[in-house]
Amino acid sequence: MRLPERVKMVEVGPRDGLQNETRPVPVEVRVDLIDRLTAAGLPVIEAGSFVSPKWVPQMADTAAVLAGIRRRPGTSYPVLVPNEKGLEAALAAGAEEIAVFGAASESFSRKNINCSIAESLERFEPVVDAARARGLRVRGYVSCVLGCPYEGEIRPAAVAEVAARLFGMGCYEISLGDTIGVGTPGKAQVMVETVAARVPVERLAAHFHDTYGQALANILAVMQLGIAVVDSSVAGLGGCPYAKGASGNVASEDVLYMLDGLGIETGVDMTALVAAGDRICRHLGRPSGSRVARALPRA
Ligand code: HMG
Ligand code: MG
Repeated sequence: MRLPERVKMVEVGPRDGLQNETRPVPVEVRVDLIDRLTAAGLPVIEAGSFVSPKWVPQMADTAAVLAGIRRRPGTSYPVLVPNEKGLEAALAAGAEEIAVFGAASESFSRKNINCSIAESLERFEPVVDAARARGLRVRGYVSCVLGCPYEGEIRPAAVAEVAARLFGMGCYEISLGDTIGVGTPGKAQVMVETVAARVPVERLAAHFHDTYGQALANILAVMQLGIAVVDSSVAGLGGCPYAKGASGNVASEDVLYMLDGLGIETGVDMTALVAAGDRICRHLGRPSGSRVARALPRA
């Protein structure tokens, strides 16, 4: 089995996780979570989004979160940006990296960002240009890569087309989102092979939600094809407000346990990661969504 020697873990809990909480999480709790994740050694921590507060009120105050965190050199703290207004706000808040987010499904694109796929790509282009001109790095997301809550199956070629457009615009990495966690390993491999024919596999990331319990299997399957960037969420927080039934991302603790077991380097410390998950779960008043966090003995 060919596997990468090192994997970059991209922590999305403070954004993809907390954006789905019914009660908004206070700024100081979001800041504390990010600081703990920084201490655990995560190289990338998505800190929030600059989207319409009418659409996602949970991510309002992302500017205050960015102002409050202790940034560690070498760690990046990207934020989601859907349009030029979001970019202006992200720049004003001192963001150094942003992510634009499109979809491979027309219906999901309309529900999530209120425009067609073509319109979204037209909208992203000036945002990516302006961000890069200001020295920001830009990541691109494609949602619904293995299925859509409104349309069902999504063609791998449709995923590849959106991924290639985002890459062509200047996104340095394309994160492939199984938004509702319906994928299985064989389908994930076919999808990644199809996308990798258009975008180098070193520039692809796996962003798998664990709704059907398939995420770790899917990650292992796509690592065999050369993917070495994995998005995950501490304590398995999250879902997506525009994808009914989407549960959290695969839990970071579960991904780390698998990678540690395979001898794959990440630079992330399990004890500190579990402690960060414990803290946010205590705040939310519910058990961790991570099987590993529930199983590991505490000191
Ligand atoms: P719209 O209503 O079409 O936009 O929404 P608009 O331009 O007509 O503006 C409407 C109002 O929003 C105006 O305010 C704008 O000023 C304001 P009003 O005049 O009514 O008072 N507005 C903004 N405010 C703050 N920041 C902004 C912004 N833009 C407009 N950036 C829009 C279009 C894209 C704005 C909206 O649909 C939106 O914010 N969507 C975001 C949805 C979202 O955040 N979804 C979750 C993230 S995606 C995800 O989770 C999937 C992922 O994890 C991968 C995966 O799992 O697949 C990434
Ligand atoms: Mg997601």
